[in-house]
Amino acid sequence: MINKKKLWRTANDHNIEDRVKKIKEEPVPEHIAIIMDGNGRWAKKRALPRIAGHHEGMKTVKKITKLVNKLGVKVLTLYAFSTENWKRPKHEVEFLMKLPEEFLGMFLPELIEENVRVQMMGERSQIPKHTLNAVEKAMEQTSGNDGLILNFALNYGSRAEILTAVKNIISDVKNGIILEENLNEELFSRYLMTEHLQDPDLLIRTSGEIRLSNFMLWQLAYTEFWFTDTNWPDFKEDHLLEAVEAFQRRSRRFGGLS
Ligand code: FPP
Repeated sequence: MINKKKLWRTANDHNIEDRVKKIKEEPVPEHIAIIMDGNGRWAKKRALPRIAGHHEGMKTVKKITKLVNKLGVKVLTLYAFSTENWKRPKHEVEFLMKLPEEFLGMFLPELIEENVRVQMMGERSQIPKHTLNAVEKAMEQTSGNDGLILNFALNYGSRAEILTAVKNIISDVKNGIILEENLNEELFSRYLMTEHLQDPDLLIRTSGEIRLSNFMLWQLAYTEFWFTDTNWPDFKEDHLLEAVEAFQRRSRRFGGLS
């Protein structure tokens, strides 16, 4: 008997493959940053606890990482936990802090095989030991990989990041490590948590919210934004490709003329 579901899936996969091929004929965004929003609303719609939405969102992370890697993107930064997310109920925070471990426990071998390099940015001192250990182990085990950088923003807040950079710059000027007259945008960037990364070319936010929520305020100065009403757990390969295709139609002028 013909398995219709399987047939459909195969056709969809072909469609994705074709679109990936086509997209790769034009320049792809080198750094994609995503604000993965709407997990709670996804769960609420299904009368499930909020954490079920986060768990489903973790599966989307896997799917999208694989696709982004296939596209030849260099960096994928995912906003997994903000410095403001500590305000959530304790059990939700605890669940969110377990997700990186679960994700890496399940998928690290595959990430290694696919040449993905795991990194993180965020204030480490407040992150529970078990979470940090899992992420640092993954960073270590993938440090030799030179494919996609999968950069988790964990306990990340952009204002705090900028403030820390300013304090460190003042201290370095005072100690004669840098000269005030040499301070420019390029040097300032090196004091941020993204010092080793290029700025995002494309920012995606899911769930219909149109704001930055303290995410990469400096780095997004010339980034192209793409918003969708889709909640993160429902975000499919199709959406990501749509965002990249939209990006490729944009004319980036960086303040100049095209
Ligand atoms: C925002 O949705 C989402 C978060 C605060 C957490 C994002 C985390 C994941 C998608 C899973 C992370 C996976 C790994 C591998 C670290 P929300 O809870 O604010 O949704 P709502 O606005 O609908 O309530």
